[in-house]
Amino acid sequence: MTNDHRFTGARYIAFEGVEGAGKSTIAKRVADHLEAAGETVLLVREPGGTEVGEKIREILLLTDHHITPRAEAALFAASRAQLVAEVVAPALAEGGWVLSDRSAYSSLAYQAGGRGLGLDEIFDLNDVALDGVWPDLVVLLRIEPGVGVARQSEGDRIGNEAAIFHEKVAQAFDDLAEEEPDRFLVVDASLPEDDVVDAVISYLGVAP
Ligand code: TYD
Repeated sequence: MTNDHRFTGARYIAFEGVEGAGKSTIAKRVADHLEAAGETVLLVREPGGTEVGEKIREILLLTDHHITPRAEAALFAASRAQLVAEVVAPALAEGGWVLSDRSAYSSLAYQAGGRGLGLDEIFDLNDVALDGVWPDLVVLLRIEPGVGVARQSEGDRIGNEAAIFHEKVAQAFDDLAEEEPDRFLVVDASLPEDDVVDAVISYLGVAP
């Protein structure tokens, strides 16, 4: 499953999908490939990726307290604002690639879709946080939410939400991909890992 759009060289790439879609593994393998091809690559994860961001990650994922949907969205955005300013924008400015395990698109799927806050609010919040630096390409690793959640070794506060929540998130990702076909590469993440990696690499068009 690939979009018709041909990737034109922009370098901020987000790997997205429901829990257990294999984002971290695939992002790492694509980063390794790019590095082997002589490219400068930075691999980051959200929430986290900076000292402040990792602290926010602990609050978001490990706390036992109830966090309201808006507070949750704001915390994700805060972690992201720090990451973009401290790490992503400087790396892009130096001409490197930034591969991100999740991104603002997770907030559009989880907080806007899953929590029901709506796209307008979450887009605006994140546009401020990112200072306009949105990912150039979103690789959506698509898998049935039930299959993905079952693949997870350990859950967290959000990963352990009910099945209906993850179904809403999966639907939101599909809607986002449909809305912005030029920005999304949709890959069937139930395929063997090598095939998923090959699909992304051939789309990027960076020779080994
Ligand atoms: P992550 O550690 O990537 O979890 P997994 O590898 O299990 O997919 O992400 C942590 C959780 O945070 C995950 O349940 C998705 C959620 N999340 C949001 O709800 N909004 C966001 O903006 C981000 C980045 C993550």
